[in-house]
Amino acid sequence: MGPPRSGLVRALVTGASSGIGRETAKLLGAQGAEVAVHFHTHRAEAEALLPELRTGGRDPFVVGGDLSDREQVLALAAAVSGRWPELDVLVHNAGSYPRRMFRELTDDEFEACFRTNVYGAATLTRALLPLLDRSGSARIVFVSSILAFTGSRHGAHYAAAKAALLGLARSLARELAPRITVNVVAPGCVDTDILSDDSPEVRAERERAIPLGRIARPREVAEAVAFLASPSASYLTGTTLHVNGGLRLE
Ligand SMILES: NC(=O)c1ccc[n+]([C@@H]2O[C@H](COP(=O)([O-])OP(=O)(O)OC[C@H]3O[C@@H](n4cnc5c(N)ncnc54)[C@H](OP(=O)(O)O)[C@@H]3O)[C@@H](O)[C@H]2O)c1
Repeated sequence: MGPPRSGLVRALVTGASSGIGRETAKLLGAQGAEVAVHFHTHRAEAEALLPELRTGGRDPFVVGGDLSDREQVLALAAAVSGRWPELDVLVHNAGSYPRRMFRELTDDEFEACFRTNVYGAATLTRALLPLLDRSGSARIVFVSSILAFTGSRHGAHYAAAKAALLGLARSLARELAPRITVNVVAPGCVDTDILSDDSPEVRAERERAIPLGRIARPREVAEAVAFLASPSASYLTGTTLHVNGGLRLE
């Protein structure tokens, strides 16, 4: 690792148009970073973040792209490379959790889930490596899931994809050391659109199972991401920070 950062920190947060990514973009911005706010379908929500990120002479911007589409991922990387000479923080937060029983899951759906949740992040990382290398002390943070460890009752494809991110992150932690750290945040249940299909009964059942007694606020996961992206996490790489209210204990 290089020395602690002193100049402007540039951070790309994928899936920053809502939920955990939105809170992460806001928090990194509040901590002084210049943020590239990535969105897929919700451009207006991403743009709505810009005024609060624009203080102090910073020039945040939005950047779109479907992470399941390789060409769009490369275009996204090109857009960031066109704006910034280097990148200090790359947060792979975008993801989707299409509920489906394994018996009914098609091969195409399985592959689509991997394209969105894994391939896009891998391609984006590789395309942005020249920028990350130039930072001297860059941080990559992947947002995985508790389901990578526990499995899912109705999302084998999603749990497998989130587990694949662990292998990717740990491998990159080795390969990109010492200049770039690579870590993972594994949230439990977080109050975002991803849980919006829950009935009140399912929500209550979720809460009963969590020792801390409630579903997490997106900001609580963002705090963990921001910590791993900060100089305070200078000796952490290849690790996973579990943010699950005690739902799963090591
Ligand atoms: N909420 C939870 O309980 C929970 C638990 C464990 C892990 N996670 C993980 O946390 C991350 C954030 O999820 P969230 O809960 O904050 O959900 P969310 O509010 O639904 O946000 C998902 C974000 O990902 C983007 N996205 C979805 N599909 C995409 C695609 N094909 N290409 C590019 N971007 C795409 C969305 O963009 P648009 O809205 O612009 O389309 C949105 O910004 C995900 O990786 C999720 O798997 C969530």
